[in-house]
Amino acid sequence: MSAQAQEQANTLPITPASLGDLWRLRQLEKLTFSREDAWPLVELLFVLVSPHIVRLKVDYDNQMIAFVAGDTRLNQGAGWIITLGVAPEWRLIGLGERLLAAAEQAMHMPAIRLTVRASNQAAIALYQKAGYQQVGVSPRYYVGGEDGLIFEKRFLESLVEHSSKQNEKKQIWG
Ligand SMILES: CC(C)(COP(=O)(O)OP(=O)(O)OC[C@H]1O[C@@H](n2cnc3c(N)ncnc32)[C@H](O)[C@@H]1OP(=O)(O)O)[C@@H](O)C(=O)NCCC(=O)NCCS
Repeated sequence: MSAQAQEQANTLPITPASLGDLWRLRQLEKLTFSREDAWPLVELLFVLVSPHIVRLKVDYDNQMIAFVAGDTRLNQGAGWIITLGVAPEWRLIGLGERLLAAAEQAMHMPAIRLTVRASNQAAIALYQKAGYQQVGVSPRYYVGGEDGLIFEKRFLESLVEHSSKQNEKKQIWG
């Protein structure tokens, strides 16, 4: 990646992904995840078409360089970030953080959860920086027997605050 491209990275737009991105997402998945963690094509297809899923991407030069998906169906009182990946040469310049924040905003849930490999220090550091806290463990969740750590971020308070402000406005303005 050129220095210029790196400088541009934080101004690259975050846009919705769609079925037409299937092969670009497949390429990103191969670059981003190990063989055991990469999703099969059918799951990538599902993520790109399911009506319950928020899916956002960053493209550069007709390649997908980052992707996030979040399931907006409530499960244990929360929506779930189901995947987040940034291509290796584009890491550590803020794309993961920006995408996660954009997904949170688009999902608009009272709380968001995710599962992460216990050894995945980079992702854990990102989630902690973004305000997620560990709320549980799924023993032997991953292929190979590694535990999954469950992290959660709660938005309920801010949503409640937002809707009560809206109600106040309605009462004032009728
Ligand atoms: C985890 C991942 C998405 C992070 O994406 P990224 O774009 O590199 O992250 P950012 O540049 O936005 O980093 C934001 C913060 O996360 C933390 N962080 C990210 N990568 C880190 C690393 N390798 N080591 C330590 N902290 C890290 C830092 O706190 C960083 O903030 P800082 O730069 O102010 O210190 C990326 O490493 C990745 O795609 N990994 C492989 C796929 C994966 O594991 N996905 C998560 C599955 S649960």
